[in-house]
Amino acid sequence: MNTTQVILVSGSNSGFGRLTIETLARQGHTVFAGIRNSAGKNAAAAHAIRTLAPTVAGALHIVDLDVTDDASVTQAVQTVIDTAGRLDVVVNNAGVGAFSPIEALTHDQVQQLFDANLFGVLRMNRAALPQMRAQASGLLIQIGSVVGRMAYPFTGIYAASKFALEGLTEAYRLELGALGIEAAIVEPGLYPTNIFAGGIVPTDSARVVPYQAFMNHTVAGVQAAMSGEFGPVPDPQEVADVIAQLIATPAGTRPLRTVVGMEGQREGPLLLNTASEQVFAATQQAAGWEPFVTLKRGDNGG
Ligand SMILES: NC(=O)c1ccc[n+]([C@@H]2O[C@H](COP(=O)([O-])OP(=O)(O)OC[C@H]3O[C@@H](n4cnc5c(N)ncnc54)[C@H](OP(=O)(O)O)[C@@H]3O)[C@@H](O)[C@H]2O)c1
Repeated sequence: MNTTQVILVSGSNSGFGRLTIETLARQGHTVFAGIRNSAGKNAAAAHAIRTLAPTVAGALHIVDLDVTDDASVTQAVQTVIDTAGRLDVVVNNAGVGAFSPIEALTHDQVQQLFDANLFGVLRMNRAALPQMRAQASGLLIQIGSVVGRMAYPFTGIYAASKFALEGLTEAYRLELGALGIEAAIVEPGLYPTNIFAGGIVPTDSARVVPYQAFMNHTVAGVQAAMSGEFGPVPDPQEVADVIAQLIATPAGTRPLRTVVGMEGQREGPLLLNTASEQVFAATQQAAGWEPFVTLKRGDNGG
């Protein structure tokens, strides 16, 4: 890979995605900021990115990208390839939150969340992989979550989508390493972005009632953490920096998993990641995968 790379980031109009595109473009990369509805509801964010573009060291473009729409994903990836001639990194950042008892979300709402958080990632990677295989290089970064390693109450459906990304990323890494392509997952703790406030709200409100006391307790804990009662409020820029660091790490040596977040949220995933690396080593040996698996697994980080 070149030191400056061609990078597509989904969900770039806010939160981690917005910080990531700016960080990467300032570092000199050619960055495509994927934004859905960039001429409509996200027009102001798109305008701000267009204003930023001439001030950064790299190139910063906007592509319209709705990860739940096959045609939009295919078109966005094609635009990157037509404009830049290659595609080195996909950052699967777009996501939808839901804070709700599992049973209070309707089946349609669950499908809506999975369409963005899981199927959206599959669509993006499926669209990007032919180009990456032709280049014999590439990097797929999934934005998971600490709740993708251990679910917290009322994150069940969201956590399930992030658990799914863990399995996908493990298998992508095994399958793609010999083709020169890496997969990695970032596991952020809780950060003050729009992910839950802007997320799916249970429409089946009668089903929320029996859980209300525990939900109130949980919300109070989150609010306390996000208002600095337990220590410094975590800065979302940390996640953008971790993504930039992964991209800057030489190909073939990037960790599978990187944990980032506040104290008290990192330790559990770090323990699980260490244990899963040990289990993987034993499984790989028993299954005889070594001749095909060219990348070290390197769980952990953070
Ligand atoms: N903040 C946290 O505590 C935390 C922790 C762990 C993981 N994460 C993950 O980090 C990622 C970024 O979230 P964030 O925290 O930065 O929250 P955010 O500010 O709400 O960002 C989510 C982004 O995803 C976009 N998006 C949602 N559905 C989309 C679709 N169908 N197509 C294209 N873009 C879509 C949103 O666009 P719109 O504005 O148009 O909806 C928005 O730009 C998510 O995957 C989230 O699950 C967040």
